[in-house]
Amino acid sequence: MGFDLYQWEGFWYYLPNLAGAIRSRSSFQARDEDVILASSMKTGTTWLKALIPCIMHPNVRSIGDGDGDGDGDGDDDDDSDPLLKNHPNALIPSLEVHIFAENYTYNISAMPSPRLFRTHAPCTMLPESIKTSGCKIVYITRNPKDTFVSAWHFMNTKRMPGEGTFPIGESFEKFCRGVHLYGPFHDHVLGYWKESMMRPEKILFLRYEDVKRDTRGQVKKLASFLGRPFAKEEEVEKIVWMCSLERLKNLEVNRNGVDPFVGMLKSAYFRLGVVGDWKNSLSKEMEEQLDEITRQKMEGSGLDLLI
Ligand code: A3P
Repeated sequence: MGFDLYQWEGFWYYLPNLAGAIRSRSSFQARDEDVILASSMKTGTTWLKALIPCIMHPNVRSIGDGDGDGDGDGDDDDDSDPLLKNHPNALIPSLEVHIFAENYTYNISAMPSPRLFRTHAPCTMLPESIKTSGCKIVYITRNPKDTFVSAWHFMNTKRMPGEGTFPIGESFEKFCRGVHLYGPFHDHVLGYWKESMMRPEKILFLRYEDVKRDTRGQVKKLASFLGRPFAKEEEVEKIVWMCSLERLKNLEVNRNGVDPFVGMLKSAYFRLGVVGDWKNSLSKEMEEQLDEITRQKMEGSGLDLLI
């Protein structure tokens, strides 16, 4: 979809991110209190980039006027609503895209705990200290058909007017062969799934569809996993509302401009958020082809991605 991918230890990368992931693997020192958000692309990461900081932030639940209107009139200030002035991308820096980018300047050892980071790196590429320390990993995935279609739309936002969309058949064939940013998708998912089965206290494995179906239940589960259980239902309500797609999509900070690290429109991270939207882009043959790959890859794993 417009750039070359490079394979490293069985997974495909955009070259600067591969270099960042290699640097991260050799130098990142995790702390026990760190939280790592891991995912393949377009699986609902942005939702968690909003939810996790809100859950971890000491003031989001307690301070503010409680009307939660987020209108910036002084009652929802930056401290009680970090989403008001920050795109979710800015709230959790990426290990390979930000922290360990070439010429990186982050002083992460000076960051107060709990530090929040994210990564698209596969499980096998995680720094050793993430595996051995007490830090927690939250992984989110999504059914492969919606993931592919979401990625295709995302990449199309980079096309110039008049260029049209990327040929979907070509992109789809590559996705099915595993040639996808941070792919093969199924291998990425399986790596984290197996780890989460072995170490459920270390890795929380979420499916986008479950978070959509039972947002409050899954957000409570996430908060408990992170050691920040909610005391009141109103707190859950508030955070679910603050991080909702409709709200984030319409916030001024997310509507204009380009993310300087990835060169994507800030608005491109918020689209439909509809489970099963793939039906509007994939043919019957494509559906069957990808479902068959998913069935074969997931066989015996206990993970259902044919949602
Ligand atoms: P669609 O393209 O299907 O709409 P990622 O964040 O991993 O890049 O995934 C992007 C997908 O998550 C997009 O899906 C996007 O619309 C959806 N998304 C972004 N923010 C969301 C939110 N707050 N709630 C639900 N879905 C969200």
